Amino acid sequence: MGFQKVARLADIPKGGGLRVRIDEIDVGLFCVEDQVYAMENRCPHAGVPLSEGRLEGCVIYCRSHGWDFDVRTGFRPGESDGFPIPCFPVRIEDGDIFVDIAQPNNLGRRRRPPPAED
Ligand code: FES
Repeated sequence: MGFQKVARLADIPKGGGLRVRIDEIDVGLFCVEDQVYAMENRCPHAGVPLSEGRLEGCVIYCRSHGWDFDVRTGFRPGESDGFPIPCFPVRIEDGDIFVDIAQPNNLGRRRRPPPAED
């Protein structure tokens, strides 16, 4: 699998995201200061596509109930622990965007389950 071409840089709207389908995964592409970030496109609250939200800086606000996520990390702002939305590596070549969904950037940062009680 590896990196797959999914869109053109010019296709990503300012202040929002671009929804693309990569194999069976719905992915949102977000542009922040000339960097592109790819994040699974499903809000964990009720499944609304996050690419339809409002992007302010590096934070996407879900259009449905306003939950917010940092598109660089998949975490809610100010959080660095817990269960981030999967984010994927991105490459840009001559205005084409390539994403590798096989290697999420951030899933190794999930919280470990609490120790079992005696
Ligand atoms: S569906 Fe995203 S905040 Fe409710």
